[in-house]
This record gives sequence, structure tokens and C-alpha cells, in this order.
Amino acid sequence: MRDVAVIGIGMTSFGELWETPLRSLWAEAALAALDNAGIDSVDLVTIGCMSSGLFTGQEHLASLLADELGMAGVPATRVESACASGGLAVRAGFAEVASGLCDTVLVTGVEKMTDVDGADATYALGTAADAEWEGFHGVTFPGLYAMLARIHMQKYGTTREQLARVAVKNHANGLLNPHAQYHLKVTVQDVVNSTLVADPLCLLDCSPVTDGAAALVLTTAERAREIAGDKPVVVITGSGMATDTVTLANRADLAELGAVKLAGERAYAMARRKPEDIHLVEVHDCFTIAEIMATEALGFFNPGFGGSAVEKGLTSLQGKIPVNTSGGLKSKGHPVGATGVAQVVEIVSQLRGEAGQRQVQGAKIGMAQNMGGSGGSSVVHILEVV
Ligand code: COA
Repeated sequence: MRDVAVIGIGMTSFGELWETPLRSLWAEAALAALDNAGIDSVDLVTIGCMSSGLFTGQEHLASLLADELGMAGVPATRVESACASGGLAVRAGFAEVASGLCDTVLVTGVEKMTDVDGADATYALGTAADAEWEGFHGVTFPGLYAMLARIHMQKYGTTREQLARVAVKNHANGLLNPHAQYHLKVTVQDVVNSTLVADPLCLLDCSPVTDGAAALVLTTAERAREIAGDKPVVVITGSGMATDTVTLANRADLAELGAVKLAGERAYAMARRKPEDIHLVEVHDCFTIAEIMATEALGFFNPGFGGSAVEKGLTSLQGKIPVNTSGGLKSKGHPVGATGVAQVVEIVSQLRGEAGQRQVQGAKIGMAQNMGGSGGSSVVHILEVV
């Protein structure tokens, strides 16, 4: 396998972007990444997108978007794994460069979610659950994660306040990110007093519905070093993917995210790293409980200790392992197909020392963890400055 480097990053602002069509959002992020890389042609385009059909009525996305960039003729592939579609697009691009099939890949993720109303967005998102055994009976994603939260609270004593503290931290980080959907300081009281969505989760425990796109340019580490001159080169040293039961009722332990654990173990093995080596991590905090469970599954804290870690400040910007410096899905926003790519954009910015006010000093090794549905799939990448 060849070493693979990230030489370009780009993203749009995240938010309710009613004036901007899907193709323009995507092109803005793609052009920003190509410009950042200083190149204008690639061998392949990968696109992570969960449900452009249901959200915008547009399918056949890969060809449409390649053409939007004047790249008709270039191979283009759309990949889908619900909210992990972006992470999977990163992994698909990584595999193409590592294997030698392509030298340079434009990896992108996009979702335009606010062209439909809230009920239709909830329906579209709900298609990532088990349609027959969950969706048909009326359960939504806030409902599924509320069940995971209740079980985690019952098994480990995780508290309502600990859940709220995830939102408080991520909104504080989001205040420092110009691309974030919400620039909003919130307190524990704000979170627990916000509208109840699915007990125990309130509005401020949930990621929002978001429009946005993100992009990366990948090439061989060898070429990256030639281009970079004296600038740091960021290499993807580990890539892991795993699946789990989509149906929660079939899962062996509902207090654990098995796909995250497995994907993490695979990424650690490939990178020859362990949790103690990681300087910062972006995890998939689609709901506050998801961040707590992801940090446990990735080995940063023992099972049951993710909640107290947030409470002690271990995951804050100055903490032992800063989690979601970008503001996470909670504050930065969650355009589902774009999220996995945007997480890698944040890690690369941090490793390059370009994260501004939210910079983690001395960050050299970072991780991005993206998740589909209620944990039915997960993709984990480890990136390092070499
Ligand atoms: N966090 C913070 N503020 C939020 C928010 C969120 N998650 N969602 C909405 N808001 C704000 C809006 O900006 C709006 O503020 P305003 O009145 O100042 O303009 C207000 O709350 C009402 O917004 P609205 O769009 O009417 O909310 P809603 O009730 O239709 O939707 C949720 C709220 C939580 C149901 C929706 O955001 C949701 O479904 N989130 C989960 C998305 C999801 O499942 N993703 C996949 C995860 S696997």
C-alpha cells in the first residue's frame, strides 16, 4: 500500500442555506479544496451523500456534480452509509490512492436538508433505521438515541447533567468556528430546560438539520512532500470501517457502540497507534449521548466513564483529549453526507496549526469518527503530521 496524504481542504459554512442549491454548495467546497491543494485536475471524484433524492429530488449525483465542476469525463462515484457517507467517501478515496489505482482523488461530502420541511426531513433521516422493525412503528432518530441514553444511564449511572455538558462544551467550541451553524453559548440549565424531544433528550441535546458541503484532495505522500516544500504534510495512517446491527433490538449490548469499537480497533492497528497517542478527536455527536458512547468505544475512557470525563473537563479544548474542537455536529451542524468529510477538514486544520482560536497546541496526531444511523456503521480515520 502507498502512503496517502491530504493536500487540500475546503468547506462551506454550515447552516440553513436556502439561497444555495445543492450543486453550488458542493462546487464551493470542491473548488476551495482544489485551490487549497494548488491543483486543477484529479483522477477520481468521490461523493458522500445520504439522501439527495428525498431531500432535493436529485439522484445520479456523481455525474451531475463532476459536470458542475467542468470535469465531465472524470470517473465519479457516490457512496452511501447514512450519516457515515462522508467518512466512507474518505475511505473510498484513501483506498484508491493507497492501492495505486489513482494518484489524486477529490473526496467530497454534501447534503442539502432544508429544502424540505421538518416532518419530511425526519422521514428522510428515518430511512437509515430499520424501516420494517423501527420506522414503521414510528420511532425516529431522537427516539432511538433516547433509548441508548436511558440504557447507558441505567447501566452506568450516567446523569442528565453529564449529557448536557457535552452540548455546553461543543457550543463553546462552535463559538470559535466561523463555519459553524450555531454561534451560541449555552449553559447546563439551557440544555435541560430546552424543549423535550425524546426523553431524556431535549432540543439542545440534538444535532440540527443542516445544509453544507466539505472536500479534501488526497494524493500520495511522496507527491505531497514534493508539493509541500517546507510545510507540514498530513498523512492518513489508519482507516477502519465496521458495521453493526441496524436494528437496535438485535444488538448484543445497547450500552456499547460495537461498530465504533471495531472501526477504531482497525484504524489503530493500521496506524500502529493506541488511544493514548491521539492528541484530539472529532466524534459523531449527533446526540449528546453519542459523544459519550463514542469516546468509550474508541478507548479514550473505560465503559461508563465517558460522562464523568466530560464533567471533569477532560474532553474540553484544554483537556487531556480535546473532543469536537470544531463544535461537533451539535454546534457546527450536521449535513449528514458532508459530516464525515468535514470532521477530517477540522483534524487537518488542527494538525497544520491553522485552527485559529480553537487550536490545540502541539497537535500532531488526530482522529475522526463518523457513524451511520444509530450505530449500524462507523468509519474511523487516524491522521498524522509527518
Ligand atoms: N440545536 C439548537 N437549536 C436548534 C436545533 C438544534 N438541534 N434544532 C433547531 N434549533 C433551533 C432553530 O434554529 C430554531 O431557532 P429560532 O426559533 O431562533 O429560529 C428553533 O430551534 C426551532 O427550529 P425548528 O427547525 O422548528 O426545530 P424542529 O423542532 O423542527 O427540529 C429537532 C428540532 C431537534 C427535531 C431537529 O433539529 C432534529 O430532528 N434533529 C436531529 C437530526 C437527526 O436526527 N440527524 C441524524 C442523526 S443520526
